[in-house]
Amino acid sequence: MVRNVRLGLVGFGNVGQGLAQILRDNAGEYALTYGLNFVIVAVADAIKGCVYDPQGLDAGTLLDKVTADGNFKGLPAEKTGWDALSMIRESNADVIVEMSYTDLKTGEPATAHFKEAIKHKKHVITTNKGPVALHYGELEGLARQNGVKLGVEGSVMSGTPTLRLGRELLGAAKIRKVQGILNGTTNFILCQMESGAAYPEALAEAQALGYAEADPTGDVEGFDAAGKVVILARLLMNEQIKMEDVDRSGITHLTPADIQAAKEAGERWKLIGALERRNDGSLAASVKAMRLPVSHALAGVSGATNAAHFSTDLLGDVTLIGPGAGRLPTGYAVIEDLLAIYR
Ligand code: HSE
Repeated sequence: MVRNVRLGLVGFGNVGQGLAQILRDNAGEYALTYGLNFVIVAVADAIKGCVYDPQGLDAGTLLDKVTADGNFKGLPAEKTGWDALSMIRESNADVIVEMSYTDLKTGEPATAHFKEAIKHKKHVITTNKGPVALHYGELEGLARQNGVKLGVEGSVMSGTPTLRLGRELLGAAKIRKVQGILNGTTNFILCQMESGAAYPEALAEAQALGYAEADPTGDVEGFDAAGKVVILARLLMNEQIKMEDVDRSGITHLTPADIQAAKEAGERWKLIGALERRNDGSLAASVKAMRLPVSHALAGVSGATNAAHFSTDLLGDVTLIGPGAGRLPTGYAVIEDLLAIYR
Protein backbone atom coordinates (compact mmCIF):
# COMPACT_ATOMS: atom_id res chain seq x y z
CA MET A 1 0.00 0.00 0.00
CA VAL A 2 1.27 3.46 -0.86
CA ARG A 3 0.64 6.30 1.57
CA ASN A 4 0.34 9.88 0.29
CA VAL A 5 2.45 12.46 2.15
CA ARG A 6 1.34 15.98 1.23
CA LEU A 7 3.98 18.70 1.28
CA GLY A 8 3.51 22.46 1.63
CA LEU A 9 6.66 24.31 0.56
CA VAL A 10 7.59 27.71 1.95
CA GLY A 11 10.14 29.19 -0.44
CA PHE A 12 10.90 28.14 -4.00
CA GLY A 13 14.46 29.39 -4.44
CA ASN A 14 17.47 27.15 -4.98
CA VAL A 15 16.53 24.61 -2.32
CA GLY A 16 12.82 24.47 -3.09
CA GLN A 17 13.59 23.96 -6.76
CA GLY A 18 16.18 21.32 -5.88
CA LEU A 19 13.55 19.44 -3.88
CA ALA A 20 11.02 19.74 -6.73
CA GLN A 21 13.62 18.41 -9.16
CA ILE A 22 14.35 15.41 -6.92
CA LEU A 23 10.63 14.66 -6.59
CA ARG A 24 9.99 15.13 -10.33
CA ASP A 25 12.67 12.56 -11.10
CA ASN A 26 12.41 10.13 -8.17
CA ALA A 27 8.99 10.26 -6.47
CA GLY A 28 7.79 7.20 -8.40
CA GLU A 29 10.78 5.16 -7.28
CA TYR A 30 10.40 6.33 -3.65
CA ALA A 31 6.75 5.25 -3.71
CA LEU A 32 7.76 1.77 -4.85
CA THR A 33 10.71 1.45 -2.47
CA TYR A 34 9.28 3.06 0.67
CA GLY A 35 5.52 2.95 0.13
CA LEU A 36 5.47 6.75 0.49
CA ASN A 37 4.19 9.04 -2.25
CA PHE A 38 5.57 12.55 -1.61
CA VAL A 39 3.25 15.06 -3.30
CA ILE A 40 3.68 18.84 -3.37
CA VAL A 41 0.23 20.32 -2.70
CA ALA A 42 1.27 23.94 -2.11
CA VAL A 43 4.12 26.35 -2.67
CA ALA A 44 4.24 29.81 -1.11
CA ASP A 45 7.12 32.04 -2.15
CA ALA A 46 7.35 35.71 -1.18
CA ILE A 47 8.35 36.74 -4.74
CA LYS A 48 7.00 34.01 -7.03
CA GLY A 49 3.55 33.81 -5.44
CA CYS A 50 1.49 30.94 -4.05
CA VAL A 51 -0.22 27.98 -5.71
CA TYR A 52 -2.30 25.29 -4.01
CA ASP A 53 -4.07 22.17 -5.22
CA PRO A 54 -5.22 19.74 -2.53
CA GLN A 55 -4.84 16.86 -5.04
CA GLY A 56 -1.22 17.74 -5.77
CA LEU A 57 0.79 19.97 -8.10
CA ASP A 58 3.12 18.59 -10.75
CA ALA A 59 6.74 19.21 -9.69
CA GLY A 60 7.95 19.43 -13.31
CA THR A 61 5.28 22.00 -14.19
CA LEU A 62 6.24 24.16 -11.19
CA LEU A 63 9.89 24.08 -12.25
CA ASP A 64 9.12 24.83 -15.91
CA LYS A 65 6.89 27.78 -14.99
CA VAL A 66 9.47 29.34 -12.69
CA THR A 67 12.26 28.79 -15.20
CA ALA A 68 10.20 30.43 -17.96
CA ASP A 69 8.58 33.32 -16.07
CA GLY A 70 10.19 33.59 -12.63
CA ASN A 71 6.77 33.24 -10.95
CA PHE A 72 3.62 31.09 -10.67
CA LYS A 73 1.29 33.70 -12.19
CA GLY A 74 -1.35 32.10 -14.42
CA LEU A 75 -0.59 28.52 -13.38
CA PRO A 76 -3.88 26.59 -13.06
CA ALA A 77 -4.42 25.88 -9.37
CA GLU A 78 -7.39 25.63 -7.03
CA LYS A 79 -6.11 28.50 -4.92
CA THR A 80 -3.59 31.28 -5.46
CA GLY A 81 -2.73 34.43 -3.56
CA TRP A 82 -2.15 33.04 -0.08
CA ASP A 83 0.85 34.18 1.95
CA ALA A 84 2.99 31.56 3.70
CA LEU A 85 1.04 31.68 6.97
CA SER A 86 -2.34 31.24 5.22
CA MET A 87 -0.96 28.33 3.22
CA ILE A 88 0.39 26.69 6.38
CA ARG A 89 -2.95 27.16 8.16
CA GLU A 90 -5.39 26.35 5.43
CA SER A 91 -3.78 23.85 3.07
CA ASN A 92 -4.14 20.10 3.59
CA ALA A 93 -0.34 19.62 3.79
CA ASP A 94 0.89 17.01 6.30
CA VAL A 95 4.39 18.47 6.32
CA ILE A 96 5.54 22.07 5.95
CA VAL A 97 8.96 22.33 4.34
CA GLU A 98 10.46 25.65 5.45
CA MET A 99 13.01 26.93 2.92
CA SER A 100 12.71 30.70 3.23
CA TYR A 101 15.87 32.78 3.60
CA THR A 102 18.10 32.45 6.68
CA ASP A 103 18.16 35.24 9.24
CA LEU A 104 20.60 34.42 12.03
CA LYS A 105 19.71 37.52 14.05
CA THR A 106 15.98 36.89 14.54
CA GLY A 107 15.27 33.50 12.94
CA GLU A 108 12.28 35.13 11.21
CA PRO A 109 10.12 34.73 9.25
CA ALA A 110 10.94 31.03 9.48
CA THR A 111 10.25 30.71 13.22
CA ALA A 112 6.73 32.11 12.79
CA HIS A 113 6.17 29.55 10.01
CA PHE A 114 7.33 26.77 12.36
CA LYS A 115 4.99 27.86 15.14
CA GLU A 116 1.98 28.15 12.82
CA ALA A 117 2.64 24.69 11.39
CA ILE A 118 3.12 23.07 14.79
CA LYS A 119 -0.05 24.73 16.10
CA HIS A 120 -1.94 23.17 13.17
CA LYS A 121 -0.41 19.72 13.88
CA LYS A 122 1.83 19.66 10.83
CA HIS A 123 5.34 18.24 10.86
CA VAL A 124 8.04 20.76 9.92
CA ILE A 125 11.23 20.16 7.97
CA THR A 126 13.72 22.92 7.42
CA THR A 127 17.00 23.62 5.70
CA ASN A 128 17.04 27.06 7.32
CA LYS A 129 19.66 27.65 10.03
CA GLY A 130 17.92 30.62 11.68
CA PRO A 131 15.14 28.88 13.63
CA VAL A 132 17.34 25.91 14.50
CA ALA A 133 20.29 27.94 15.82
CA LEU A 134 18.15 30.43 17.73
CA HIS A 135 14.97 28.64 18.84
CA TYR A 136 15.42 24.87 18.58
CA GLY A 137 14.69 24.13 22.26
CA GLU A 138 11.41 26.06 22.23
CA LEU A 139 10.31 24.66 18.86
CA GLU A 140 11.12 21.10 19.86
CA GLY A 141 9.08 21.49 23.06
CA LEU A 142 6.12 22.87 21.09
CA ALA A 143 6.39 20.04 18.56
CA ARG A 144 6.39 17.44 21.32
CA GLN A 145 3.32 18.98 22.99
CA ASN A 146 1.48 18.94 19.66
CA GLY A 147 2.53 15.42 18.64
CA VAL A 148 4.47 16.44 15.52
CA LYS A 149 8.09 16.04 14.45
CA LEU A 150 10.83 18.39 13.34
CA GLY A 151 13.44 17.58 10.69
CA VAL A 152 16.48 19.84 10.59
CA GLU A 153 19.17 17.74 8.86
CA GLY A 154 19.69 20.24 6.03
CA SER A 155 20.63 23.06 8.39
CA VAL A 156 24.23 21.76 8.65
CA MET A 157 26.21 20.33 5.70
CA SER A 158 23.07 20.09 3.52
CA GLY A 159 22.20 16.44 2.80
CA THR A 160 25.47 15.07 4.19
CA PRO A 161 23.97 13.41 7.27
CA THR A 162 26.05 15.12 9.95
CA LEU A 163 23.35 15.70 12.57
CA ARG A 164 21.89 12.24 12.19
CA LEU A 165 25.33 10.58 12.34
CA GLY A 166 26.36 12.61 15.37
CA ARG A 167 23.07 12.30 17.25
CA GLU A 168 21.98 8.80 16.50
CA LEU A 169 25.25 6.91 16.13
CA LEU A 170 28.12 8.80 17.75
CA GLY A 171 26.42 10.22 20.85
CA ALA A 172 27.00 7.07 22.89
CA ALA A 173 30.69 7.11 21.92
CA LYS A 174 30.87 10.51 23.73
CA ILE A 175 31.77 13.28 21.34
CA ARG A 176 34.52 15.36 22.95
CA LYS A 177 35.38 17.58 20.03
CA VAL A 178 34.04 18.47 16.59
CA GLN A 179 36.05 20.38 14.00
CA GLY A 180 34.42 21.15 10.71
CA ILE A 181 34.59 22.89 7.39
CA LEU A 182 31.01 24.06 7.68
CA ASN A 183 30.80 26.76 5.05
CA GLY A 184 31.10 25.89 1.36
CA THR A 185 31.47 29.45 0.08
CA THR A 186 34.58 30.25 2.11
CA ASN A 187 36.21 26.89 1.40
CA PHE A 188 35.55 27.43 -2.30
CA ILE A 189 37.04 30.96 -2.15
CA LEU A 190 40.15 29.78 -0.25
CA CYS A 191 40.75 26.99 -2.80
CA GLN A 192 40.30 29.38 -5.73
CA MET A 193 42.72 31.87 -4.14
CA GLU A 194 45.25 29.07 -3.64
CA SER A 195 45.02 28.48 -7.40
CA GLY A 196 45.74 32.17 -8.04
CA ALA A 197 42.22 33.68 -8.33
CA ALA A 198 41.51 37.08 -6.76
CA TYR A 199 39.08 37.26 -3.83
CA PRO A 200 36.27 39.25 -5.57
CA GLU A 201 36.22 36.89 -8.57
CA ALA A 202 36.20 33.82 -6.35
CA LEU A 203 33.31 35.25 -4.30
CA ALA A 204 31.35 36.15 -7.45
CA GLU A 205 31.79 32.58 -8.70
CA ALA A 206 30.57 31.13 -5.39
CA GLN A 207 27.51 33.37 -5.67
CA ALA A 208 26.87 32.32 -9.27
CA LEU A 209 27.08 28.66 -8.27
CA GLY A 210 24.42 29.20 -5.60
CA TYR A 211 26.63 28.42 -2.57
CA ALA A 212 26.65 31.87 -0.97
CA GLU A 213 23.93 33.29 1.28
CA ALA A 214 21.70 36.08 -0.09
CA ASP A 215 24.05 38.43 1.79
CA PRO A 216 27.49 36.78 1.47
CA THR A 217 28.81 38.74 4.48
CA GLY A 218 27.26 35.92 6.51
CA ASP A 219 29.62 33.47 4.79
CA VAL A 220 32.88 35.39 4.59
CA GLU A 221 32.72 36.83 8.12
CA GLY A 222 32.00 33.41 9.63
CA PHE A 223 28.40 34.01 10.80
CA ASP A 224 27.02 31.14 8.73
CA ALA A 225 29.60 28.72 10.15
CA ALA A 226 28.96 30.10 13.65
CA GLY A 227 25.23 29.37 13.24
CA LYS A 228 26.12 25.80 12.36
CA VAL A 229 28.43 25.54 15.39
CA VAL A 230 25.49 26.65 17.58
CA ILE A 231 23.29 23.96 15.97
CA LEU A 232 25.95 21.27 16.49
CA ALA A 233 26.31 22.32 20.14
CA ARG A 234 22.54 21.99 20.68
CA LEU A 235 21.96 18.78 18.78
CA LEU A 236 25.16 16.85 19.40
CA MET A 237 26.39 18.17 22.74
CA ASN A 238 23.12 19.17 24.34
CA GLU A 239 24.19 22.76 25.06
CA GLN A 240 22.15 25.80 24.05
CA ILE A 241 24.81 28.38 23.29
CA LYS A 242 24.21 31.75 21.61
CA MET A 243 25.73 33.17 18.43
CA GLU A 244 27.75 35.60 20.57
CA ASP A 245 29.24 32.69 22.56
CA VAL A 246 31.11 31.61 19.43
CA ASP A 247 34.59 33.13 19.19
CA ARG A 248 34.23 34.08 15.54
CA SER A 249 36.22 35.55 12.68
CA GLY A 250 36.06 35.05 8.92
CA ILE A 251 38.38 35.00 5.92
CA THR A 252 38.28 38.62 4.76
CA HIS A 253 41.55 39.51 6.51
CA LEU A 254 43.51 36.92 4.50
CA THR A 255 45.70 38.30 1.70
CA PRO A 256 47.10 36.47 -1.36
CA ALA A 257 50.48 36.66 0.46
CA ASP A 258 49.02 34.79 3.47
CA ILE A 259 47.67 32.07 1.18
CA GLN A 260 51.01 31.79 -0.61
CA ALA A 261 53.01 31.66 2.62
CA ALA A 262 50.92 28.73 3.86
CA LYS A 263 51.33 26.94 0.54
CA GLU A 264 55.11 27.29 0.72
CA ALA A 265 55.10 25.85 4.25
CA GLY A 266 53.07 22.75 3.17
CA GLU A 267 49.90 24.11 4.81
CA ARG A 268 46.45 25.32 3.77
CA TRP A 269 44.11 27.94 5.19
CA LYS A 270 40.75 26.55 6.23
CA LEU A 271 37.84 28.20 8.04
CA ILE A 272 37.30 25.79 10.92
CA GLY A 273 34.21 25.69 13.10
CA ALA A 274 35.01 23.90 16.35
CA LEU A 275 33.42 22.72 19.58
CA GLU A 276 35.42 21.23 22.39
CA ARG A 277 34.42 19.96 25.80
CA ARG A 278 36.94 21.42 28.29
CA ASN A 279 38.12 19.43 31.32
CA ASP A 280 35.85 21.49 33.59
CA GLY A 281 32.84 20.37 31.51
CA SER A 282 32.28 23.71 29.76
CA LEU A 283 32.11 23.97 25.97
CA ALA A 284 34.48 26.07 23.84
CA ALA A 285 32.99 27.21 20.53
CA SER A 286 34.84 28.97 17.73
CA VAL A 287 35.03 29.78 14.03
CA LYS A 288 38.52 30.76 12.88
CA ALA A 289 40.64 30.67 9.75
CA MET A 290 43.66 28.51 10.50
CA ARG A 291 46.60 26.92 8.76
CA LEU A 292 46.43 23.13 8.66
CA PRO A 293 49.23 20.84 7.52
CA VAL A 294 48.24 19.22 4.21
CA SER A 295 48.28 15.83 5.99
CA HIS A 296 45.37 16.88 8.27
CA ALA A 297 42.04 15.10 7.59
CA LEU A 298 40.35 18.43 6.79
CA ALA A 299 43.14 19.95 4.64
CA GLY A 300 42.29 17.95 1.51
CA VAL A 301 38.62 18.98 1.53
CA SER A 302 38.28 21.26 -1.48
CA GLY A 303 35.74 23.47 -3.22
CA ALA A 304 32.28 23.82 -1.68
CA THR A 305 32.63 20.42 -0.01
CA ASN A 306 32.14 20.36 3.77
CA ALA A 307 33.51 18.04 6.44
CA ALA A 308 33.06 17.21 10.09
CA HIS A 309 35.81 15.57 12.10
CA PHE A 310 34.44 14.04 15.33
CA SER A 311 36.75 13.06 18.20
CA THR A 312 35.02 10.57 20.47
CA ASP A 313 36.07 8.80 23.65
CA LEU A 314 35.02 5.30 22.62
CA LEU A 315 35.48 5.23 18.86
CA GLY A 316 38.40 7.59 18.28
CA ASP A 317 38.19 9.94 15.31
CA VAL A 318 35.53 9.80 12.60
CA THR A 319 35.54 12.12 9.58
CA LEU A 320 32.50 12.75 7.39
CA ILE A 321 33.04 14.54 4.07
CA GLY A 322 30.34 15.57 1.61
CA PRO A 323 28.43 18.37 -0.08
CA GLY A 324 27.58 21.31 2.15
CA ALA A 325 25.54 23.52 -0.14
CA GLY A 326 23.79 23.61 -3.49
CA ARG A 327 20.27 22.95 -4.69
CA LEU A 328 20.21 19.16 -5.05
CA PRO A 329 22.29 18.28 -1.94
CA THR A 330 20.19 20.62 0.21
CA GLY A 331 16.93 19.48 -1.39
CA TYR A 332 17.98 15.91 -0.64
CA ALA A 333 18.24 16.69 3.10
CA VAL A 334 14.45 17.15 3.03
CA ILE A 335 14.03 13.62 1.65
CA GLU A 336 16.18 12.26 4.52
CA ASP A 337 13.96 14.00 7.07
CA LEU A 338 10.77 12.83 5.34
CA LEU A 339 11.96 9.24 5.44
CA ALA A 340 12.98 9.60 9.09
CA ILE A 341 9.51 10.93 10.00
CA TYR A 342 7.44 8.43 8.03
CA ARG A 343 9.36 5.16 7.99
N1 HSE B 1 26.10 29.70 2.32
C1 HSE B 1 26.21 28.38 2.86
C2 HSE B 1 27.57 27.81 2.50
C3 HSE B 1 25.09 27.54 2.32
O1 HSE B 1 28.28 28.40 1.68
O2 HSE B 1 27.95 26.80 3.06
C4 HSE B 1 24.84 26.29 3.10
O3 HSE B 1 24.46 26.54 4.41
